[in-house]
Amino acid sequence: MKRFKYSEVTPEKIYNNRRTFIKNLGLAAGSTLVGSNLFTSADASTSKEELKLTDYRYVTTYNNYYEFGTGKSDPVERSQKFKTNPWDIVIDGEVENPITLSMEEITEMFPSEERIYKLRCVEGWSMIIPWLGFPLNKILKKVSPTSKAKFVKFISVLDPEQMIGQRFPILDWPYKEGLRIDEAMHDLTILVTGLYGKKLPNQNGSPLRLMVPWKYGFKSSKALVNIKLVEKMPTSSWMKASPNEYGFYSNVNPRVDHPRWSQATERVIGGGIISPRIPTTMFNGYGDEVASLYTGMDLKKYF
Ligand code: MTE
Repeated sequence: MKRFKYSEVTPEKIYNNRRTFIKNLGLAAGSTLVGSNLFTSADASTSKEELKLTDYRYVTTYNNYYEFGTGKSDPVERSQKFKTNPWDIVIDGEVENPITLSMEEITEMFPSEERIYKLRCVEGWSMIIPWLGFPLNKILKKVSPTSKAKFVKFISVLDPEQMIGQRFPILDWPYKEGLRIDEAMHDLTILVTGLYGKKLPNQNGSPLRLMVPWKYGFKSSKALVNIKLVEKMPTSSWMKASPNEYGFYSNVNPRVDHPRWSQATERVIGGGIISPRIPTTMFNGYGDEVASLYTGMDLKKYF
């Protein structure tokens, strides 16, 4: 897969130019960085010129982070004083070499690179974001998973003192998510340390969050403190909250509706006064890379 360095594709002045479209960043249509169908599947409802990086302002002010409240502006308003230093992450469970790493050690051991991924929220909106991060598999290989490691559980921080939302039983705290081991090892799955060439803002999950581009946004857990290799399929906080609405897989799939709304299209945030709606694509456009992980599975059943 072609990799771009931050300096090669995304000078700050390009970020700052609101009229600059992704095609001008030197990313060819079909680039695996943004998903092969991102451009080609956009039909008459939008031209490819309309798909540009989402403004930093929207990426950092329109957030889902229920630890700080359920409103879209709660995270930016309430997370600014959240302390992310010092911060340790434990990687343990079914592994030969469990390890605790500080954020400093993580940044030193695993240099971040840029990945432009579309985040497709289950609520029906999306943003195209230049993330900084590194493949999760790099960290997983370090701890040598045992043959019993079939799934990976992601546990976010529990800190009701600092996170007002955790004082209410909105979700099963701490926030929990899970992936199958092959999904976790896939090269597209990254741990995120920043966006737009900068340190990850608190509201976006500082200091470390997951990003799995072919799954709905809620899979990308923020403020991780524990990555645990496990034998049994973990129950995520969303599965626990509403099992008939949120399954374990949560692959982006325009053919499987949420019980309360369609998933056929998505509104691109910040795409002008009238945000364009574009057709949602299977696996968020990453079918070429990830469809083989699900060969033979009924994705309506395993939603
Ligand atoms: N992680 C934690 N810890 N808590 C959350 O409430 N919300 C999820 C996901 N990760 C959430 C979380 C949801 S629903 C989405 S759509 C994305 O974060 C939003 O990421 P963003 O705010 O960086 O766009």
